[in-house]
Amino acid sequence: MAEPSPGTVTIAVPKGRVLKSLAKRFARAGVDPVVLLDDDRRLVRATDDGSVRFLLLKPDDVPTYVEYGAADLGVVGRDVLLEREYDLYVPLDLGIGICKMAVCGMAGRAPRNNDLRPLRVATKFVNIATRYYREQKRQVEIIYVQGSVELAPITGLADVIVDLVETGETLRQNGLEVFEDIVDISSVVIANVAAFKLEREPIRKLLAALAAAP
Ligand code: PRP
Repeated sequence: MAEPSPGTVTIAVPKGRVLKSLAKRFARAGVDPVVLLDDDRRLVRATDDGSVRFLLLKPDDVPTYVEYGAADLGVVGRDVLLEREYDLYVPLDLGIGICKMAVCGMAGRAPRNNDLRPLRVATKFVNIATRYYREQKRQVEIIYVQGSVELAPITGLADVIVDLVETGETLRQNGLEVFEDIVDISSVVIANVAAFKLEREPIRKLLAALAAAP
């Protein structure tokens, strides 16, 4: 694959449900987003005018590509940045991909605080959950799971889960509900520190256009 030209901005974006609203946002900022929505397996997608090159990544990998400079900019949910530390700038909150991190469990069966054993919490977000319960001064046992975490309280693997809730549909369809809200989440633009400091014109312009086109 050809190297991008110096005028090209490389942007790491997460595959998945935020892509549609992200495409709309890019369109309003003057970047043709049609390649983002193509239903194929290409992981590198350049706009027709060559101004932007998108890298399609698993959300958790977006900050890594931006931190190491493989991408100039990235779009990622705040949950990813709260879970792990990165050396990055966060110049813009896009106000899309809005959801929340919450403690959830079987509907109507919120665990009581005076239970004798530590609360068992299943989550992919081990650090966020650990911090939350430490602040609450509650003793918990954290169990790491990667996905379909709603299964943990259904099967008795854990008492509760810490997970993202967007529409609430996954909870509802599995007989769970939110017990406690932890933090609001949205998608933010992240920038490579060196690329941001150099203030390359195409990056500066693109950030300004994204900021001006909510
Ligand atoms: C996320 C999250 C919930 C679901 C919440 O999972 O972990 O399971 O979305 O969305 P909702 O409130 O709109 O139903 P995702 O779809 O990313 O898949 P995963 O289970 O593989 O994490």
